[in-house]
Amino acid sequence: MKEIIHKEFKIFLGEGVLDFLSEILIENEYSKVFVLMDNNTYKYCWPILSPSLVNYITIVIPEGEQHKTLAQAEKIWTALQQNHADRRAVLINLGGGVISDLGGFCAAAFKRGIDFINLPTTLLGMVDASIGGKLGVDFLAYKNVIGFFQHPKYILIHPNFLRTLPAEEMRNGMAELSKHALISDKNLFDKLEATKEIGFDKFPSLIFQSIKIKAQIVKQDPFEKDIRKTLNFGHTIGHAIESASILHDKVPLRHGEAIAIGMICEAYISKAIEKLSSSELEMITKFYRQRFSKYQKKFNYEELLGFMRNDKKNKDGLINFTLLKRIGKPKIDVNCHDKLIIESLEYYQNLA
Ligand SMILES: NC(=O)c1ccc[n+]([C@@H]2O[C@H](COP(=O)([O-])OP(=O)(O)OC[C@H]3O[C@@H](n4cnc5c(N)ncnc54)[C@H](O)[C@@H]3O)[C@@H](O)[C@H]2O)c1
Repeated sequence: MKEIIHKEFKIFLGEGVLDFLSEILIENEYSKVFVLMDNNTYKYCWPILSPSLVNYITIVIPEGEQHKTLAQAEKIWTALQQNHADRRAVLINLGGGVISDLGGFCAAAFKRGIDFINLPTTLLGMVDASIGGKLGVDFLAYKNVIGFFQHPKYILIHPNFLRTLPAEEMRNGMAELSKHALISDKNLFDKLEATKEIGFDKFPSLIFQSIKIKAQIVKQDPFEKDIRKTLNFGHTIGHAIESASILHDKVPLRHGEAIAIGMICEAYISKAIEKLSSSELEMITKFYRQRFSKYQKKFNYEELLGFMRNDKKNKDGLINFTLLKRIGKPKIDVNCHDKLIIESLEYYQNLA
C-alpha cells in the first residue's frame, strides 16, 4: 500500500485499502457506519466493498451532477437522522466527485460535523475531488456555491474500482490528472502525451504522481490563499461552460470535458498575457482535442461571462484566472478583458 500522510489528511492507495478500512472502523469505535453511493457505484462498487463491512446502513441516491444539490443533501440528512446517527457516526463516500463533494458536505454539517471517509471510484475522484477538503453543492445553476473546507478522515484509493468505469469517465479524470502536470511538471505532461489511453492497471505511477502534486499543493495552502489557486487553471472558463451546459443540455458536459475546453481557452489567454509559447499552446490544444470530442453547441458569450462574473474566485469584481507562463510554470491572480475571453472561446470554436 502506498501512502501520503500529512497532518490534515491521510491518503492510502493499493489493493490493501479495504482491509485497512475494516481496521479503521474498529479502531475508531464508530457508533454507526453509513455508506453513501449512487445507483452506479451501488451496482459496481458496493459488491467489492460490502464484504469488508459488518454493520452498516446504505444510502443510495441517483447518479449525476444534477443531484449535487441542497435537496439531495436534505434527503441524506433525513436518512442520517431517521437512523439515529450521533456525532460518533461515520459516513463512507463510495463514488466519484459528486458523492465525495455532496457526502462530505452532508457529513461536515450534520450535528456540526461527523467523520467521513472517501473511497473514490472514478479517476477524477481519485486524483482530484476526494483530496483537498473542498466540499459543496451546486446552487441556482452555479457550481459549488454552498460548501465548506473539511478534510475527510481518510482517503482510500482502491484501483479495482476503475475496472468498471466507462472509457469516457476515464477521459474525464484525465483532464484533471493532466492539469496537475500542466501546472507543475512538464515531464509528467510529456509522459501523458505519449500515452493515448490511461488505465490504472497500466499507469499506476502516473496517477500516483498526479495525486502527489495535488496533495503537496493542498498541504502548502489548505484555504486557497495562493499556490492552491494554481489548481484553478482551466476552471474559470471551464466552470462557466459546465454551468451553462447543465442549464441547457439534455446530456450535460462532464466536469473534465468542460475543464478540458477551459484549459484550451485559458492556454490561449496565457499566450496573449503571459507569453506562453505558440508551440506549447499548440501542444496543449492538440492534447485535449485528440482526447475529447469537440463540443458542438455555439457558446452564448454573454451568458458565459455572466457565469464567470459570479465565480467565487473573483476579487474586486474582476474575473480571476490562473494562467501558464509555460508548461509547469503557472501564474495566479491574473485578470483579463472580456474581449480576450471571447477571443479565446472563438479560438476553441474555430478548431477543427
Ligand atoms: N472537491 C474538489 O476538490 C473537486 C475537484 C474536482 C471535481 N470536483 C467535483 O467532482 C464532480 C465530478 O466528479 P466525477 O467526474 O467523479 O463524477 P461522478 O461522481 O458523477 O461520477 C461519474 C459517473 O461515473 C459513475 N461511476 C462512478 N464510479 C464508477 C465505477 N467505478 N464504475 C462505473 N461507474 C462509476 C457515476 O455513477 C457517474 O455516473 C463534479 O461535481 C466536480 O465539481 C470536486
